[in-house]
Amino acid sequence: MNIVVVGAQWGDEGKGKVIDVLTEEADILVRFQGGHNAGHTVVVDGEEFIFHLIPSGLLHRGKVGLIGNGVVVDPEALLEELGRLRARGIDVERAVKISDQAHVIFPYHQRLDALEEATRAGRLGTTGRGIGPCYVDKAARSGIRIADLCNPEVFAKTLRRTVQEKNRLLQALYHEPPMSYEELLARYTAYAKRIAPHVVHGARFLREAMAQGKRLLFEGAQGTMLDLDHGTYPYVTSSSATSGGACTGSGVPPTAIDRIIGVVKAYTTRVGEGPLPTEFAPQLMEEIRRRGKEFGATTGRPRRCGWFDAVVARHAVEVNGCQSIAVTKLDVLDAMETIQICAAYRDGARTLDAFPADLGVLSRCTPVYESAPGWGSDTSEAGCFDELPAAAQRYLKRLEALIGVPICLISTGSKREQAFKMGSW
Ligand code: IMP
Repeated sequence: MNIVVVGAQWGDEGKGKVIDVLTEEADILVRFQGGHNAGHTVVVDGEEFIFHLIPSGLLHRGKVGLIGNGVVVDPEALLEELGRLRARGIDVERAVKISDQAHVIFPYHQRLDALEEATRAGRLGTTGRGIGPCYVDKAARSGIRIADLCNPEVFAKTLRRTVQEKNRLLQALYHEPPMSYEELLARYTAYAKRIAPHVVHGARFLREAMAQGKRLLFEGAQGTMLDLDHGTYPYVTSSSATSGGACTGSGVPPTAIDRIIGVVKAYTTRVGEGPLPTEFAPQLMEEIRRRGKEFGATTGRPRRCGWFDAVVARHAVEVNGCQSIAVTKLDVLDAMETIQICAAYRDGARTLDAFPADLGVLSRCTPVYESAPGWGSDTSEAGCFDELPAAAQRYLKRLEALIGVPICLISTGSKREQAFKMGSW
């Protein structure tokens, strides 16, 4: 079975945890979009691992991970992460493959990311990793791919032309010092030598694996509301974080996907700027942020927090085609006296149950809340649905009814064993 896991909110839904559980049923783990802006946290034997670029399921022995063509790769970040896995005794040369069609992030992308943020009329709050500018080059057909990086002649020629172009931009528009072609050429040529043993034709690699009966698990990064097309544009990332991206970002056809699972937190968070209709007032925000340790895994920024938004989750289920939903961090709500769920939005006299694209409408909307009493007890030790307090069971059943698909997994803590499956995926 080939499974796609996607975030059904604004990222940070706890996908790393869900992937960790699902990895037992997979042979090959695939990242298909984004870059080292992502941060997937997995806790094993009390030790915390944060993955940015490499599929997080690789902590399981014997698995193979592919960084697909849809990902943008910062070689320095990649080598650093490979080094950490190697130190854990993982044979990374065997376990980590990189598509030759993935695009490469260079220091000028990071410089431009910071400069564009600083001069843009409305800040987006990017992670500053150069993700957007790298995808801009890809779409403008002036990017440099892993295949180009690994061919010394092509690389020298393409990099010279690109650095000239970027220096014109840096100097004329931003009055910044130019970057050195020679320095970049030497540094990235050295990276290329270290990366080369991992490079494969991604689509062919996966096709051959499927022909041998291997099972694929696609690890979405960020989330539906940060998707370039289906999110809260322009407050989004620059890639396809929805399930369609699993195909374009890997070369696996849609007909090969068997199952699509969306991941939601039992409440909502987002980092960076942009709409968050159910955002808490400051006091509750502080409390949930502290309980849920809601600080970005990549940048350490505090996450904005709010009540569960069923309008967002329904939108995510629709655009991704999710057949089931995993709910994480239920335990963070354990002490709440009352819990609210946003069932719809109100725009004047109108009730909206679909997420509006118009940011003007969205900014006017107010959430229509349903309130329910909290459960006031610890859920972190529950081993199955029946062991949850009755009020928590009612809360989850209500989420299922509002979202329209069944819950397949519930997570009640960061440890591997604090999660249980419900029914089939
Ligand atoms: P970028 O991906 O760095 O261009 O940032 C664009 C937006 O996506 C910003 O609001 C970021 O905070 C957000 N973002 C990017 N990656 C993640 C992630 O892994 N989790 C949550 N938010 C993210």
